[in-house]
Amino acid sequence: MQKKLIVAIDGPAGSGKSTTAKLLAQRLNYLYIDTGAMYRTVTLFVIRKNILGQNEKIIQLSAELDIVLEFIDGETNVTVSGEDVSQAIRTYEVNQNVSDVSKIEGVRKILVQKQQEIGKNGGVVMEGRDITTVVFPNADVKIFLTAVIDERAKRRALEFAQKGTDLPINEVKENLQRRDTIDSNRKVSPLTQSPDAIEVDTSNVSIDEQVSIILDHVKRIAKEKNIKVEIN
Ligand code: DC
Repeated sequence: MQKKLIVAIDGPAGSGKSTTAKLLAQRLNYLYIDTGAMYRTVTLFVIRKNILGQNEKIIQLSAELDIVLEFIDGETNVTVSGEDVSQAIRTYEVNQNVSDVSKIEGVRKILVQKQQEIGKNGGVVMEGRDITTVVFPNADVKIFLTAVIDERAKRRALEFAQKGTDLPINEVKENLQRRDTIDSNRKVSPLTQSPDAIEVDTSNVSIDEQVSIILDHVKRIAKEKNIKVEIN
């Protein structure tokens, strides 16, 4: 079988990970995996079951949930036992609680295993917080995306507005800062830049430029490793 690359992308909320990873996967004809969607799905069910703060129950729940990620019409489609939760995992309430759920070690262990299973044969663009450091520390391509906080807040507020929720920019910014703090300071696999990851600052570049910068790295690494990539 033709060997395919593992492309791992990490970065804080609003740094452009999903948009970039999606386009990259399309160009490479690889599978796109949004690992944040998995943590969001667990959080949604934690809220529904009203078990916030009860870590043992939350860990058990993450083991039981049958989370299926598919990529349909350019979007991540998430189902749990057949129920489509793709919209429900993007609400403000989930945003507010997801960092607290994703800092639980037992939850991470279960989800990381699932992610490793999905990506083990390569041909995948996976994005999150610990993909370059924990999930695939030997990934072929490692990217760390950054952007200044005001730009990230602007992007997130726009995403909410497009879905019909107008939120004050300051509130969005505070939520991002709070999540950044928890995600970067938690004990288990915090968001950190892997020393061998290539940093791409997206504050002042267009999405097309971002994708093209990363594709150049992918091409270079594929050549070094003698792996054939076909770019659409
Ligand atoms: O990328 P996102 O905003 O959808 O991620 C939601 C939350 O999930 C984020 O605040 C931290 C957590 N997360 C994580 O801990 N590890 C990952 N690999 C991906 C997301």
